[in-house]
Amino acid sequence: MTIAEKYRSIVILSGAGISAESGIRTFRDTGGLWEDHAIEEVATYEAYLSNPAKVLDFYNQRRRAMRAGVQPNAAHVALAAFEDRFDGNFCLVTQNVDDLHERAGSRHLFHMHGELDKVRCQKCLEVFASGEDLTPQSICPWCMAQGQLRPHIVWFGEMPHFMDEIEQALSSCDLFISIGTSGNVYPAAGFVQTARRNGAHTVELNLEPSLNETLFAEGIYGPATEIVPRYFGIDGIGSAEC
Ligand code: APR
Repeated sequence: MTIAEKYRSIVILSGAGISAESGIRTFRDTGGLWEDHAIEEVATYEAYLSNPAKVLDFYNQRRRAMRAGVQPNAAHVALAAFEDRFDGNFCLVTQNVDDLHERAGSRHLFHMHGELDKVRCQKCLEVFASGEDLTPQSICPWCMAQGQLRPHIVWFGEMPHFMDEIEQALSSCDLFISIGTSGNVYPAAGFVQTARRNGAHTVELNLEPSLNETLFAEGIYGPATEIVPRYFGIDGIGSAEC
């Protein structure tokens, strides 16, 4: 039986590992972003208040890296192709702030940690797409306030987006799959337990066993570009099993 025949409601959680082979750095692997940068200096609201230029520059650089010829890889493409052909409920939750899932064609997608190519005004609360670098002098094009624009990113200590929608999807799924995440950061790291409590089959697809390895019923290990297309029965565009 294929995945599409066996399950009716699928929730997928993706993390930095799915974008690694596209050339985007993960956080906690060797060479990961948190090796060169202290979380408390670049990824908290307190850091932004005390040194906005440094925090904004960190995200300007990451936005530029995302734009520098980075393309969706076979794992992103396989998920989008599977979603396209699956006639059950499909929900992709990503911790990633890159846009590779949507560029691959994923539709039912929640960016729980925000999006690198969006900006938010703290004064008028408008959220808008922007490819421009932010500086502490940037002016909001909606309310004209100066120095109020921040990346539309969920920093440590802030509430992730779409939690109601995600909890709802987790409570009714019969298959939960975690792809390319180390299981260090909550609430995402707790999704496997919610899905298990609700009776879902749980699968981890990762380069190596994550911190949550023992919570999954099944684990498949290797590079995402190999194991994700294989798991979903997608051998390149046009040959999905589902
Ligand atoms: N294929 C599959 N998995 C991979 C690959 C690959 N090619 N390369 C790395 N991985 C795995 C690593 O083994 C690791 O378990 O991806 C995981 C990446 O873990 P992290 O760097 O911790 O990234 P993630 O789990 O997404 O981090 C969660 O932490 O800093 C915050 O907000 C940030 O959303 C991020 C959150």
